[in-house]
Amino acid sequence: MKTIKGMKFETLISENDIATRVKELVKEIAEDSDGKEIFVIGILKGSFIFLSDLLRLFNVHNIHPSLDFITVESYGSGKTSSGKLKMLRDITTDIENKWVLIVDDILDTGRTLAFAKEYFLKKKPASIKTCVFLDKPERRVNEFKADYVGFEVPDKFVVGYGMDYDNLFRELPYVGVLSDEEDT
Ligand code: PRP
Repeated sequence: MKTIKGMKFETLISENDIATRVKELVKEIAEDSDGKEIFVIGILKGSFIFLSDLLRLFNVHNIHPSLDFITVESYGSGKTSSGKLKMLRDITTDIENKWVLIVDDILDTGRTLAFAKEYFLKKKPASIKTCVFLDKPERRVNEFKADYVGFEVPDKFVVGYGMDYDNLFRELPYVGVLSDEEDT
């Protein structure tokens, strides 16, 4: 059990296990894309660490993708209650006929990725695949399934490797689970 900034948590996925799994994911994506032009879309902010690891490994497969980011924002009475989303920051490049890969840190209710995929499908790409570092299937409110999943995790509060608690702990190189225990 570690304590940082008064918060206690345990490691759920180690740095080594992450590195191994990210390599496997890139290999899978490289094979599936089969030489097509890849356009990667990262969803800010949580995806930035996973995406940077993923992206640097494409070079191993002699793949050189284009990259852009989006920010999806919930509006109304909050994401979990209203479920309404809008594109706060959009990409600035044409993706028509491209092999698009949307990357996010976590697939939770499924609302963000379902929204993003539907939004970009209208731009007529050759195909759209989705890749998430973590999947919490218990939390899903729709039928959304990602094409590439790093790890399936239980419905616990996870931090690190891009994921935050109150905008903290994104920098941790491993995934931790926040403990319910009080700090003493
Ligand atoms: C988190 C995460 C995903 C989204 C997944 O983003 O990064 O984008 O929630 O949840 P869903 O499947 O229920 O839609 P968050 O809104 O916390 O913003 P952040 O990435 O800036 O931390």
